[in-house]
Amino acid sequence: MKAKSKILLIDDEEVVRDSCTQILEGGPYEIASASDGTAGLRLVEEFQPDLIFVDLKMPGISGFEVLEKVAAMDPTIVMVVITGFATISSAVDAMKKGAYDFLPKPFTPEEFRLITRRSLEKRRLTLETISLRREKEMLREHFAHIVSHEMKAPLSAVQQNLFALEFELAETLNETQKETFKRTKSRIDELLKLINSWLRFVSVDINQLQEKFVQVSVKDEIARALETIGPYAVRKDVEIITAIDESLHPVIGDGLSLSEAFGNLISNAIKYSNDGSKILVKAEENANDVVVTVKDEGVGISKEDLPHIFEGFFRGKSGQAMASGHGIGLAVSHQIIEAHNGSIEVESEPGAGTTFAVHLPKANPVQPTTG
Ligand SMILES: Nc1ncnc2c1ncn2[C@@H]1O[C@H](COP(=O)(O)OP(=O)(O)OP(=O)(O)O)[C@@H](O)[C@H]1O
Ligand SMILES: [Mg+2]
Repeated sequence: MKAKSKILLIDDEEVVRDSCTQILEGGPYEIASASDGTAGLRLVEEFQPDLIFVDLKMPGISGFEVLEKVAAMDPTIVMVVITGFATISSAVDAMKKGAYDFLPKPFTPEEFRLITRRSLEKRRLTLETISLRREKEMLREHFAHIVSHEMKAPLSAVQQNLFALEFELAETLNETQKETFKRTKSRIDELLKLINSWLRFVSVDINQLQEKFVQVSVKDEIARALETIGPYAVRKDVEIITAIDESLHPVIGDGLSLSEAFGNLISNAIKYSNDGSKILVKAEENANDVVVTVKDEGVGISKEDLPHIFEGFFRGKSGQAMASGHGIGLAVSHQIIEAHNGSIEVESEPGAGTTFAVHLPKANPVQPTTG
């Protein structure tokens, strides 16, 4: 049987408490009431209501204070304000303090039933969202655990054994056998790379990332990305031209993640360009943001593919034909930039090249201290 919804009425007027109780009688509700804010707050703990109706004007603790305290205790409890002095400004103030809705006195039984049903629906949706979010989080953790323990670890052991075996048999292997070893090792290598990409994709946790935020120099993080990617550019004979504004504002963020995001954009630019071409990496600022652009003269992205490139595991047609990948780099970069309250945009012309632009809000200037 479905549990009854719990409703708490906090009002100093007995007649209001009684009439509200009568209106809801016979419905799927369990009702408690209190005649002042202090008793009401005690009942919030004991009774654990889904919905609270609270009078704004009461002797002792005011309805506003009750709203504030309940919101701090459990923000999922839905609160509706009942008042005789219904003004727009008191309604706005109540909403600011966490009320979901407002019911001016006098009200009809039908109005009261309607607002009750709507508020309980709001409570149900809030709880459902929280539980879905928790479920998603658990699935993500479970999935990451399985992939890393049940797949990555044994595969790494196989790779290790294969290396040892090949080394031991080095003198005895014929050319065909050597080729077989080489192919097997490379397949395992590819699988391990795919697993690492998956793990990276599911492990970007915006909240965790934001906990580590400090002032970061975009210039340094671009340099860090270029250091890792440099050899790849040399191998493809791609020239990377940089134009970094020397006086860039810092941004608030996590340096390693930002360099990973820039690195993904620059390595894509190399990967999806022909040998011998040029890439421009620029960093400048406008009134609010530091803007990093990565511009290439590569294969470009078709109009049909463009809306999907930030989705996980998506690979564009022209890109696929040019190089291997898992369609993860841009999804991870997008998550990272979003965690920094930034944005990432792309413009592309098939056959002519692609430009990615990352906007990151400038860090607030440190307030000069006076005195
Ligand atoms: N600079 C670019 N030029 C052309 N196509 C690009 C460019 N950057 C991204 N793309 C397209 O967007 C798709 C998604 O890019 P993303 O970086 O997410 O994955 P990937 O490069 O395929 O694989 P990986 O996970 O190894 O990065 C690519 O497969 C490619 O089709
Ligand atoms: Mg990529």
